[in-house]
Amino acid sequence: MTEPLIDPFQRAISYLRVSVTDRCDFRCVYCMSENMTFLPKRDLLTLEELDRMCTTFVRLGVRKLRITGGEPLVRRNILSFFGAMSRHLETGALDELTLTTNGSQLARFAGDLAAAGVRRVNVSLDTLDEQKFARVTRWGRLPQVMKGIDAAQAAGMRVKINAVALKGFNEAELFDMAEWCAARDMDLTWIEVMPMGDMGETDRVGQFWSLKDVRAQLAQRYTLTDLAERTGGPARYVRLEETGQKIGFITPLSHNFCESCNRVRLTCTGQLYMCLGQEDMADLRAPLRASEDDAVLENAIRAAISLKPKGHDFDYSRQRADGQVSRHMSHTGG
Ligand code: GTP
Ligand code: 5AD
Ligand code: SF4
Repeated sequence: MTEPLIDPFQRAISYLRVSVTDRCDFRCVYCMSENMTFLPKRDLLTLEELDRMCTTFVRLGVRKLRITGGEPLVRRNILSFFGAMSRHLETGALDELTLTTNGSQLARFAGDLAAAGVRRVNVSLDTLDEQKFARVTRWGRLPQVMKGIDAAQAAGMRVKINAVALKGFNEAELFDMAEWCAARDMDLTWIEVMPMGDMGETDRVGQFWSLKDVRAQLAQRYTLTDLAERTGGPARYVRLEETGQKIGFITPLSHNFCESCNRVRLTCTGQLYMCLGQEDMADLRAPLRASEDDAVLENAIRAAISLKPKGHDFDYSRQRADGQVSRHMSHTGG
């Protein structure tokens, strides 16, 4: 038996998030600056290398694989990678193969994703207003994303909407979003905005909308029941009794959930980030390329996990964005 991955705080690592590209066809204001410099393509792990990397993690006990980016579906030939990973679902080694996407390419790929065994997809969508959508994503167009969501549902996948809670931006849409998702039988998760990447003029503290407040507002209209159910991600869910729908809250700022963290993140160049909110990382590309023998890579992974920090230090309570990390969200994929 291979020994499972356990970090210094006795947390078992069973969830790997893999960013397959740092590129994206949108430029969300809280995620990227308008002029991003992307990595040269030659620095990326090949799809074969990504396969070997993920397969090694699966052998070490990872049971949930989430493909992210940037926008994962803009990476060339990415569907062949999903197809390759589906073998781990078939053997039962993996419980879930899934992705987080902006939805722009789903109309093209939904059928193939479902065929590769993807049963659930998280689509990032912060507003239902076309003009506001264009403003927050800079380059995105809402109808294209709507077509993608239609295609995902038509292909039989469950869709969860991820919305970043932004003060003065989508506050007024709290009920509209809930009702739109309920009508389409989609779950909805709100996320507190985190200080990731230097965003120039953007005022992180000013845009922060605490999910305690989101919850309190929802409770004025609906009966909320806390659910014990967990997806393996950081969200905590409630059910709206009136609609039967699930709403999730991801609260890195108002309630730190690091004590139950089960995940690490691999970037498209093979760096392993042990925490979204810290700078600590380990290079896995060198050990991967150093030897055909997976034992070298396994040892590097175990060494990295032994350095996993306790948690992030994001904090807005002093009216400034403390604990900021310098890299953009698109680098580690959220
Ligand atoms: P589910 O399987 O649907 O529960 O997915 P998930 O919540 O794990 O994945 P998703 O990609 O939907 O994550 C949504 C967002 O939650 C991410 O983009 C991050 O913003 C945030 N998030 C996920 N994991 C962490 C974490 O370990 N720390 C912090 N601070 N935020 C996280
Ligand atoms: N804070 C919180 N969430 C963010 N995302 C991107 N940048 C941030 C940030 N600074 C979200 C996206 C997407 C997911 C991958 O991360 O909206 O839902
Ligand atoms: Fe692209 Fe997602 Fe970042 Fe928006 S949040 S720019 S969709 S990677």
